[in-house]
Amino acid sequence: MKRIGILTAGGDTPALNATIHGAVARASQLRLEIFGFIKGFNSLLNSRLPHVHLNPLMREIPELDATMGGTVLGASRDYLSSDNPQQMEQIYDRLSQLQIEGLICIGGDGTLNGLQPLTERLPVVLAPKTIDNDLGLNYPSEPDQWYLDDQECYQYKNSSLAFNQEHMVNYATPGYATAVFDSAMGVERVRTTAESHRRIAIIEVMGRHSGYIALGSAFGRPDIILIPESHVHIDPLVERIMELYELQKNVVIVCGEGIKDEEGNELGAAQHTTDPAGNIILSGAAEALRSMLIERIGDGYFVSRRRGESANASIFTRKVGHTQRGGRPVLFDRFYASQLGGKAVDMLLEGQNNAVSVLQWSNERGFYVDSFEGYRLRDRWGQIHARFVHPSFYDEDHMKPSQVGIDYLLPIFTNAVGHDDVEHIRRTLFASGNLMLPYHSVNTDINKRIRYLGG
Ligand code: F6P
Repeated sequence: MKRIGILTAGGDTPALNATIHGAVARASQLRLEIFGFIKGFNSLLNSRLPHVHLNPLMREIPELDATMGGTVLGASRDYLSSDNPQQMEQIYDRLSQLQIEGLICIGGDGTLNGLQPLTERLPVVLAPKTIDNDLGLNYPSEPDQWYLDDQECYQYKNSSLAFNQEHMVNYATPGYATAVFDSAMGVERVRTTAESHRRIAIIEVMGRHSGYIALGSAFGRPDIILIPESHVHIDPLVERIMELYELQKNVVIVCGEGIKDEEGNELGAAQHTTDPAGNIILSGAAEALRSMLIERIGDGYFVSRRRGESANASIFTRKVGHTQRGGRPVLFDRFYASQLGGKAVDMLLEGQNNAVSVLQWSNERGFYVDSFEGYRLRDRWGQIHARFVHPSFYDEDHMKPSQVGIDYLLPIFTNAVGHDDVEHIRRTLFASGNLMLPYHSVNTDINKRIRYLGG
């Protein structure tokens, strides 16, 4: 191989540039040219195939900074369709014209589904990313636990096998640690204001149907964590909230955006995106929960205790939102994202196709990168499912991570933040230049490097 391509697909995460950097550094070491495609699969669908040479003369372009969030290549939620052979033919033709011999897609489960049609014509591997931490398996045979019910809906039956951290496939995904860092900080900050004003705070974090971000936000020490994998039982929840409120006059609750009620219905609204990977957008879980609590607890309770004018004024929500997905990636994410990018290059050179570079963990070795065949993530019908928080990670009675969950989180987050991350805040946030100079977007510089097929 002499030249490979790389693209960033789906929603962005903070460590994408670090993954690209790892791939470019490894490619340059191996004297391999690497071209980046602009805006994910959107570039391949464009007859002009917009691209950037990321290592001219085997030197990484200066715009590529592993400590910057986002992606210099741009991202989109466009995917390829295997139902359109003509389109696939055109894409393959474009890639051949540019002499691309292998492709790295940085993405999550949607991307792994989306890159399938290409693997029939070209070696393609995935370097993982997602703040949701839902790309991977809790144990290698997990895809076999999915079955279709009478209504042809997917159902999951958890295995009776005891959980073992060392058997997880892709222990953690670049982006997850930074998202948790942001959420846990948000929880800490909301706490003191809830304390002062005798309020109940509900903080909604991202993650779609997986509760990993909510689970990790335990580092911010909320009182209650609700995850989508464990249905919300309103009676014990209200009882616990009142108990805590009596004691400390404030309660902080974290909820994943995909939490469900007792019947298994999502509390928030689910909307289908235009994303052909089938992803959905969830919104409003915290608000829905707030309404339920206002109704159950009622104004009288707050008024009689002189802790607020009404339930409405005493219970508030905060959505952490897209700050979870943006900004500088913490050290853990940068370091392993870069290794996973480098590993993806090695995998292409080893002749692998339709495989994923994964981050593994063992007590003896700590974290290490490996590869995993894509088909092993699929169920018997060929579907890749988002990984759920394993039931043993969550203590339903206390509504918090269990000891197994704590054991899962600790290796990721102990030392996840580097000295330089802290120093970065100290040096750059209140730099006087920030007030004088306008923001200079990396897109402006990358635009100058974009080339097109045939010109
Ligand atoms: O999959 C990543 C994610 O951030 C989810 O946690 C969230 O539900 C979704 O993307 C939001 O997507 P968008 O940025 O397109 O609104």
